[in-house]
Amino acid sequence: MPARRPAGPEEEAAVRPPVRLRRLRRTPALREWVAETRVEPGRLIYPVFVRAGPGPSEPVPSLPGVQRYAVRDLPSLVRQLDTEGVRAVLLFGAGRTRDAEGRDAWAPDGVVPEAVRAIKRSTPEIVVATDVCLCAYTSHGHCGVVERGEVRNDPTCERLGRVAVAHARAGADVVAPSAMMDGQVAWIRAALDRAGHPETAILAYSSKHASAFYGPFREAEGSAPEFGDRRGYQMDYRNAREALREMDRDAEEGADLLMVKPALTSLDLLVRARERFRLPLVAYHVSGEYAALKAAVAAGIVEERPAVEETLTAIRRAGADLIITYFARDFARWTSGGR
Ligand code: PBG
Repeated sequence: MPARRPAGPEEEAAVRPPVRLRRLRRTPALREWVAETRVEPGRLIYPVFVRAGPGPSEPVPSLPGVQRYAVRDLPSLVRQLDTEGVRAVLLFGAGRTRDAEGRDAWAPDGVVPEAVRAIKRSTPEIVVATDVCLCAYTSHGHCGVVERGEVRNDPTCERLGRVAVAHARAGADVVAPSAMMDGQVAWIRAALDRAGHPETAILAYSSKHASAFYGPFREAEGSAPEFGDRRGYQMDYRNAREALREMDRDAEEGADLLMVKPALTSLDLLVRARERFRLPLVAYHVSGEYAALKAAVAAGIVEERPAVEETLTAIRRAGADLIITYFARDFARWTSGGR
């Protein structure tokens, strides 16, 4: 509808907008001055896949630009991250052998403990978090112990406690249980304290959906379940109140940080969690979100840098203090003036 022209000076004054939001959008300096949300590389956590065995680092086919690292290449990786301004990694290992229980997950000389030691020897100031789960170590690919076709809760928690202790002994600063077992945070806290690691923090995967967006990760880890799916333990994405209950429980059980995952499909949960909790909130921008955006870039649909900056900013604006993202390094290079 075309705007009606004011009849005279009096009417013109009446329709003139008294508030002009565009005043503060006039120049880059003004826009920067009033920007409410910023994403700094120091708020990003880089997920790192570590490979078993003597083989070299290699690209992960399902995640363009992402490598699976040999332990010997980790020191140079973290030194680079440190100069780029990324101060934290989240480590994912895989079983050298896989069995029904996932025993290799808590072996003291397993892939993750070795990786933690290698990193801490070279760059002790980097924050090392480790994923605590069984799915990359079990023959059936489920996140816990299976008996009679069912993933058993409490026996799994007991194993997760051992995994967390193995990681803490190697020097991990943070353990991140992702199996979505009830009580896993309390169990791990008790196991850590008993083993003499009261200093190790717990980043709880609290609201973790049974999501279609983990596909590229499972391809990378070879951790897709052999039968069934993960809906018997991961959260139903239709439920927001239940997500808050998961976070309530984990906070009560002693979690030091709470995670919401995936990120873009959980922005409402981040907003609500931000109001409800005083704990640091972490959002996981997962493998499928990364790969989908990369594919859109490759297809010429969006431009990478602005699309990634807009995405990560939205996750921060919704309430995340920290973001786990495969884009961490690209983002850090862009903001430090590179490329
Ligand atoms: C292990 C785990 C998964 C992810 C993080 N920890 C896979 C799953 O639950 O199937 C997914 C991360 C990603 O997609 O980037 N349970």
